[in-house]
Amino acid sequence: MSKLTLRQLNKQDEDAFFEGLKEWDGEDLDWYTFSWKPGMPFSEMITILENEFAGIDLLPGRVAHTMLYGFVEGKIVGRVSIRHSLNEHLRKRGGHIGYAVAKKFRKNGYATEMVRQALDHCRELKIPKLMVTCAEDNVPSCKIIERFDGKLEDKIWDDEDKEMIRRYWVSIEE
Ligand SMILES: CC(C)(COP(=O)(O)OP(=O)(O)OC[C@H]1O[C@@H](n2cnc3c(N)ncnc32)[C@H](O)[C@@H]1OP(=O)(O)O)[C@@H](O)C(=O)NCCC(=O)NCCS
Repeated sequence: MSKLTLRQLNKQDEDAFFEGLKEWDGEDLDWYTFSWKPGMPFSEMITILENEFAGIDLLPGRVAHTMLYGFVEGKIVGRVSIRHSLNEHLRKRGGHIGYAVAKKFRKNGYATEMVRQALDHCRELKIPKLMVTCAEDNVPSCKIIERFDGKLEDKIWDDEDKEMIRRYWVSIEE
């Protein structure tokens, strides 16, 4: 696996961000970004991300979060969102962290490595344990959570997406 660096975006990442966006053509944009909307200047999104990190001007139903992008050889392969706290919706589905890797880059261990590095950010954020959720049939995601010793709390029915969800807790050691 090539070396992956997980970090927040800065103003120099415009080209990498829009290159990475192409990999999600025709897919749910949320897997790549919650903050950018078509036509939005990159600099505006950076301001939004800074505000979302600080908990400023949050959209209804959103909590403060850290958006981290995984870079390999200058290209964005995926992202991790760390929610700083849980609300009712995230407790049911979404949990503290969500991650995605573009199709082209999957099965290289990148998601596993992004989650490994994201745990350091969770330590800094003083989140003692993470709720992580995945659809029952999402084999790679379940594997990743169990790799980090996720303890299955329960399985619940998600009436929105009409599927069974597994809810795990991952402990963050100091
Ligand atoms: C889930 C996802 C992030 C995995 O990304 P990835 O970079 O391919 O994951 P990794 O390469 O780190 O693989 C993790 C494990 O899953 C396995 N795996 C990967 N793809 C798999 C597949 N299609 N079927 C079965 N196992 C798979 C890998 O072999 C690895 O297992 P191992 O550690 O035992 O070898 C990616 O498929 C994705 O973005 N899916 C859409 C978004 C999503 O579902 N996010 C998770 C929300 S809970």
